[in-house]
Amino acid sequence: MESADVTADLTEVLLTEDQILGRIAEIAREIEIDYEGREVLLVGVLKGAVMVMSDLARELRKVDVEMDWMAVSSYGQSTKSSGVVRILKDLDTDLTDRHVLIVEDIVDSGLTLSWLRENLESRGPASVEICALLRKPDAAKIEIDARYVGFEIPNEFVVGYGLDYAERYRNLRSVAVLAPHVYA
Ligand code: PRP
Repeated sequence: MESADVTADLTEVLLTEDQILGRIAEIAREIEIDYEGREVLLVGVLKGAVMVMSDLARELRKVDVEMDWMAVSSYGQSTKSSGVVRILKDLDTDLTDRHVLIVEDIVDSGLTLSWLRENLESRGPASVEICALLRKPDAAKIEIDARYVGFEIPNEFVVGYGLDYAERYRNLRSVAVLAPHVYA
C-alpha cells in the first residue's frame, strides 16, 4: 500500500510488490543454476537499480555474490539518442576473469546498456550478462541481449521500485504508471 498523496499521482499499478518479489525469486533460481560453482559480481547501475539489486542479491543463496556500483549519465538530449554515456562513478573492482552480471531496473531505448556492456566487456571479464527487471520492447532503439528480464511492459511513463520522475517515487514498492497531470 502506497501513501494516499502518492496514489493520486498514479493512474495504474502495473506490478505489485508481490509480483516483483516473486519474479525476482524466479530469476534468482535461474542465476543459481547458471552460475553454479562460480562467483558472480553484480554490477548495479545507480540510481534506478538500487531496489532490484538489493532484493536480487538477498535472494541469491547458492552462489557467492559480490556487489559493485556504477553511475552513468548520457551527455544530454542529443547524445541520449547517440548512446554516448559518461561515467560518473566507476567500479572499484577489477573485472579481469570475473563473471559480471549487470543489474538494471529498466531497458528503455537500450542505449545505456548497449554502451555499458561494451565498456565492461573491454575490461577482460570472463563473462558479461544482463539482468533487467523491466523492458519496454516498443521503446527499443537497439536490441539488447538481456539474459534475465523480469517483465515486459508497455511504453508508458512508469515510476516506483527505483524508477523516478524528477527523483521522486523511487521508494514506491510497486511499479505504476505516472498520471499525465504530474509531468504535463
Ligand atoms: C534509466 C535506467 C537505465 C536507463 C535506461 O536511468 O536506470 O539506466 O535509464 O534507458 P535506456 O535504455 O533508454 O538507455 P536514468 O538515466 O533515468 O538514471 P537513474 O537510474 O539515476 O534514474
